[in-house]
Amino acid sequence: RIEWSKAFCRDVAAAAGVRMARGRDFAALEPALDFARELAAGRGSRGVVIKADGLMAGKGVKVCDDFAAAETALRTLFAAVEGDPAGPAVVIEERLFGAEASLIALCDDHGALALPPARDHKRLLDDDKGPNTGGMGAYSPVPDLPESLCATLIDVVHLPILAELARRGAPFRGALYAGLMLTPEGPVLIECNARFGDPEAQALLPRLAVPLGPLLYGAAQGDLAAAAAELGLHGRMLPTTGDAAVAVVLAAANYPETPRKGDAISGLEDAARTGATVFHAGTVSDAEGNYRTNGGRVLAVVGLGATVSSARAAAEKAAECVSWSGMQRRHDIAAALPPAAHARAGASPDPVSEKAWTGGGVS
Ligand code: AMP
Ligand code: GLY
Repeated sequence: RIEWSKAFCRDVAAAAGVRMARGRDFAALEPALDFARELAAGRGSRGVVIKADGLMAGKGVKVCDDFAAAETALRTLFAAVEGDPAGPAVVIEERLFGAEASLIALCDDHGALALPPARDHKRLLDDDKGPNTGGMGAYSPVPDLPESLCATLIDVVHLPILAELARRGAPFRGALYAGLMLTPEGPVLIECNARFGDPEAQALLPRLAVPLGPLLYGAAQGDLAAAAAELGLHGRMLPTTGDAAVAVVLAAANYPETPRKGDAISGLEDAARTGATVFHAGTVSDAEGNYRTNGGRVLAVVGLGATVSSARAAAEKAAECVSWSGMQRRHDIAAALPPAAHARAGASPDPVSEKAWTGGGVS
């Protein structure tokens, strides 16, 4: 529920004192229009975000520059569910600006252990153009979200949310994913998922320097702390190998609208020979081991390297080997890295400083 209902997520975050964008949820068009108008007209407003409440695979969100665009989005959404007694429900938020990052933690009711941070690329096309998707590529680490500060985020995002869920009688065990916007005023929670991200997981898991199995089992048993102690782990972050990773998604023709199935995939063996890992998601194979597309995001090709740039080169080299009719992919995953957070020392305000969090609370 914390994933598929954006209204529920906002409610939990508000009760837990976790900062999210200013916003509200609505079940009727007129009050929704009034609120969107108010947000769009506010001093310094740079837009409004309209989110359908429900599981939309990252495709139910419209980022609108002004009230006119928000009105169109709201009218379309409410018209689409007219007559449905269960709906409609919509969340309206102020538009935030900043780089996004995903911070995923293994959780057991009250405890959390963070995977390294990752950055997804949500738009279909290069330069963040085109429609939103489930994610077209990811990299880790994230230079502008140092792992030391991730520990702070676990304290002010994941742990309060876990405590609030437990207080409501719905304790959470599993992977809790925080989608964050690193704004000039500090990190803001945009969404929660109740799972590893895709393609974040493909970039994160190859970087782990500890076996995942005992930690997943410990979390499932409600004894993550003991599992961590058994592995000699301390602190809030899982240790990494020091390698960086870049995952490039290869998507089917017509993704995200109506992905085409059945296209013959070539070059898988060549890609593997480069040393990269090719994760299958939407594929099927026949008896001879010939693969065809069978979903929207078909494969993720993951390169490792000493730096994000060299990992990107490895992923690109492997991705170049693979093709099918209508294959889509981005060529700029991890191409433009923001400066490392420490390079901004003295810049004010620091988007990820602990100080930026002391205001806390929900606006
Ligand atoms: P969500 O499903 O809530 O993560 O939204 C999908 C994408 O929409 C996010 O990854 C952001 O790129 C964008 N988005 C969501 N909420 C906001 C917001 N309040 N301001 C700006 N962009 C947003
Ligand atoms: N890549 C974003 C997600 O898994 O929801």
